Amino acid sequence: MKKITTMTLLMVSFFAMAQQETIDQKVNSLLKRMTIEEKIGQLNQYTGDNSATGPININPNKQAEIKAGLIGSMLNIIGTKYTRQYQELAMQSRLKIPLLFGQDVIHGYKTTFPIPLAEAASWDLEAIELSARVAAIEASASGIHWTFAPMVDIGRDPRWGRVMEGAGEDTYLGTKIAHARVKGFQGNKLGDLNSVMACVKHFAAYGAAIGGRDYNSVDMSERMLWETYLPPFKAALDAGAATFMNSFNDVNGIPATGNKHLQRDILKGKWNFQGFVVSDWGSIGEMVAHGYSKDLKSAAFSAITAGSDMDMESNAYRYNLAELVKEGKIAIDLIDDAVKRILRKKFELGLFDDPYRYSDTKREEKELNNPENRKTALEVAKKSIVLLKNENETLPLSKNLKTIAFIGPMVKEYKANMGFWAVDLPEVNYDKWIVSQWDGLQNKVGKNTKLLYAKGCEVDGDNKDGFAEALTTAKQADVVILSIGERHDMSGEAKSRSDIHLPGVQEDLVKAIMATGKPVVVLINSGRPLVFNWTADNAPAILYTWWLGTEAGNAIADVLFGDYNPSGKLPMTFPREVGQIPIYYNHFSTGRPPADENAKGYVSSYIDLKNSPKFPFGYGLSYTKFDYSGLKLSSTKIKSNENIKVSFQLSNIGKVTGEEVVQLYLQDKFGSVVRPVLELKDFQKVKLDAGESKTIAFTIDKEKLSFYNNKLEWIAEPGDFELMIGASSADIKLKADFELVD
Ligand code: BGC
Repeated sequence: MKKITTMTLLMVSFFAMAQQETIDQKVNSLLKRMTIEEKIGQLNQYTGDNSATGPININPNKQAEIKAGLIGSMLNIIGTKYTRQYQELAMQSRLKIPLLFGQDVIHGYKTTFPIPLAEAASWDLEAIELSARVAAIEASASGIHWTFAPMVDIGRDPRWGRVMEGAGEDTYLGTKIAHARVKGFQGNKLGDLNSVMACVKHFAAYGAAIGGRDYNSVDMSERMLWETYLPPFKAALDAGAATFMNSFNDVNGIPATGNKHLQRDILKGKWNFQGFVVSDWGSIGEMVAHGYSKDLKSAAFSAITAGSDMDMESNAYRYNLAELVKEGKIAIDLIDDAVKRILRKKFELGLFDDPYRYSDTKREEKELNNPENRKTALEVAKKSIVLLKNENETLPLSKNLKTIAFIGPMVKEYKANMGFWAVDLPEVNYDKWIVSQWDGLQNKVGKNTKLLYAKGCEVDGDNKDGFAEALTTAKQADVVILSIGERHDMSGEAKSRSDIHLPGVQEDLVKAIMATGKPVVVLINSGRPLVFNWTADNAPAILYTWWLGTEAGNAIADVLFGDYNPSGKLPMTFPREVGQIPIYYNHFSTGRPPADENAKGYVSSYIDLKNSPKFPFGYGLSYTKFDYSGLKLSSTKIKSNENIKVSFQLSNIGKVTGEEVVQLYLQDKFGSVVRPVLELKDFQKVKLDAGESKTIAFTIDKEKLSFYNNKLEWIAEPGDFELMIGASSADIKLKADFELVD
């Protein structure tokens, strides 16, 4: 048996190598026939006419340039008809090199899934992979070859609008999700008709923009880079990611786009990345504004030298690389290497065999927004909701309620549920594509339940004229559901906010409704952690619903009535106030830690606020309760070549089936550099029926004990460790010490 397996493996890798060789041969022979202009053309990417995702360079000659072989890739061209039209132009070029079509398919395509941060709250890797899979099936059926996702930037600052696009603040969770998303997008292999190339972004450290202001500078130690920000990129690469995108920010003074250390030394050097790197939108040209490059020509020089292979919308390569080669400033080998990386992907996608293979209108009709995909989107949406508070078992709601008041500016919204980075839907007939929260509730309640509505107020602004109607409506109901939060355009790219309190007068609306004495359930829709202290302290029940996509209304209704028991856990820390930001659970130990929450004096604390967050990383409630007991370690003293088997009992001691995300944290008690107070090292999402118990097992190995030491080597240092099993980073249920002895 073993022999057969080894034999099969050998044959598979032999064929894979043989195929790669033929692709390399094809690439080389094509390259020999290309003029320098045609080569540079392959490195050039323009936007099409779909909604632009950055400042456009108007170029009336795009079509002529494609025919002349001067453009290698387009973005923002979607749909089989449109992509076919453009591909037909490329087929009129001398060498008939097909175009690559890229698009920001960030959380679903026409079937829109929850925003990535919300999906991260599911801690359900299978669900996250499936979401990316469905997105790839739909996007590839719509002519797209390449998605600019996943974004794997660690986000520790909720002022930064793009936290909505990532997996949150934690590196371990981030690596797992990065891996799952790449697998989902790329499927079994590139070239399968339902796979798209992933593009891991933004390389690197974009999430650490100073002050949470988008596009701002990043000042970061090499240790922080390696320990916190790079691992999700490496995980995505290990999952086979075909491409990377660099970033707008500078890192320690060098723009990432022109950063040789990041792209040549780390990505293409140490990590041996064989795919290609695309610049971010206009980021090559922006090196001039950064004051790093004198002009577009020197920006082109820096970018290509640093390892940026494709120029998105800067026109820097198109007009300068040939001259730089002629002047002997750039070796043609550098251009050839970039071209080869891109051509290889075009061959792997099968585009040279059939440039129109992704532009099949029948397939497009069949795949987009089909019932099966919507079912998956509903499942993922339910799993992404986080129950923040549930006093007196306010939730789930009874199905026999006579009157429910559904109040708030988000109730009847359609597009607001899609969040930022949703692929354009037709502006008409939103109800065909999106289930609003109102529609979802209507689908759920029976004939005997009356649903009342009042808007109350807008998301922002200071107008309270709608409060009176909202109060009258609330008073007639047995229960009030209040849907408030951010509009879809309040988090996302270029959507940083200095104030992340609930916008407008929405919290005043909560206060007014609460004063009626009616039971109130608050739904908070958002792309980031918000601050809503009054609501958190006073409302009996709160669901954080993020932006859940096309099935938002149905998912919320399922959770409200207990048809799904919420299982999400926060992937980011929720601060008490903006002044605590950046705030994250795995901070270093200081020399003066406060003894408790209220300690003041010469300790590391605020004189006007607690150190702890409002809601910690990993937090989320359920309609049932879980008990953790009986922690066992196979050993409390190990050598570095040994493992510890950890086990304990998890019991559902409540009345309904539920899922718990059990989290394993470690603290290395002392090291050659200061270590975090605790770090997530593993987790499992476990489903248990009421009354059911299960033994949960984890393994601790050397890898889990390792970190970058004072020489930046990845090693496990001997010493004492604390193991913590928790329901969140601040709710540790079981603890034990162990020692690594060599
Ligand atoms: C964003 C990228 C995106 C690109 C193309 C840029 O502004 O930073 O994440 O992929 O536009 O739309």
